[in-house]
Amino acid sequence: MNRGAFIVIEGIDGSGTTTQTALLEKRLTASGRAVVSTREPTGGPVGSMIRQVLTKRLREPSGAPFNASTMALLFAADRVDHGAVLITPALASGAVVISDRYDHSSVGYQGLTGKLPFAEAAFWLRAINTRAVRPDLVVVVDIDPREAENRRRARGGAEELYEVAALQAHLCTYYSNLSKYFPEDTIVHVDGSRGTDDVGAAIDRAVQALFFRQLEQRKAGELEEQLEELLEDNRAPKP
Ligand SMILES: Nc1ncnc2c1ncn2[C@@H]1O[C@H](COP(=O)(O)OP(=O)(O)OP(=O)(O)O)[C@@H](O)[C@H]1O
Ligand SMILES: [Mg+2]
Repeated sequence: MNRGAFIVIEGIDGSGTTTQTALLEKRLTASGRAVVSTREPTGGPVGSMIRQVLTKRLREPSGAPFNASTMALLFAADRVDHGAVLITPALASGAVVISDRYDHSSVGYQGLTGKLPFAEAAFWLRAINTRAVRPDLVVVVDIDPREAENRRRARGGAEELYEVAALQAHLCTYYSNLSKYFPEDTIVHVDGSRGTDDVGAAIDRAVQALFFRQLEQRKAGELEEQLEELLEDNRAPKP
């Protein structure tokens, strides 16, 4: 069984990552692929705890929110769980896994809310996430933070922990430089200010390019194996 594909959708709050994850799942399922759609924080035990902190239902005994390092370690633990319970088995079964956020969010959100200088924090955040399964493709939905805020307002619901204008503006800059912090990942930016279908079409182009690359790599691997067998046959002593 060929390994499936691991796709991550990233962006600031309100950029449309959840909308686009659902749409991509729908399109790929309709095209006949096995798809597992997921998100971070996950619905697992550590992820559920993180969601309580994000929605301000769980706080320190003093009433303060958890500090950035505690959050970073919780997210890293949730991610190890995510890999073991869902991502790795799904990829092994040949499915396409789409995750609404991944460790790129951890570096941005916890890196920008802690006390350390960002570069130092980013280094530590990457270090505690070295066990994370690397994605084959990361799609960043770029959007102006004010537009994203308007969308969040229109969507309604209470403001979550990180939904603060100044932080969102810094996150926007971080996401535009994402390849600096994740040089080994394939990162594609799409214009999130466009309509939902146009954003989806841009994501599709990146996903189809990934599938094409994977196919070419598989073909090259098979050819190499055949060549190896031929050489082996020629090396064998003639009876
Ligand atoms: N391209 C788009 N154009 C206009 N509105 C959009 C677009 N994409 C999503 N929206 C709307 O904007 C709101 C935010 O979208 P969504 O929940 O997908 O964002 P998100 O990035 O997942 O946000 P969060 O980070 O808060 O979970 C929703 O009400 C959604 O319907
Ligand atoms: Mg969302």
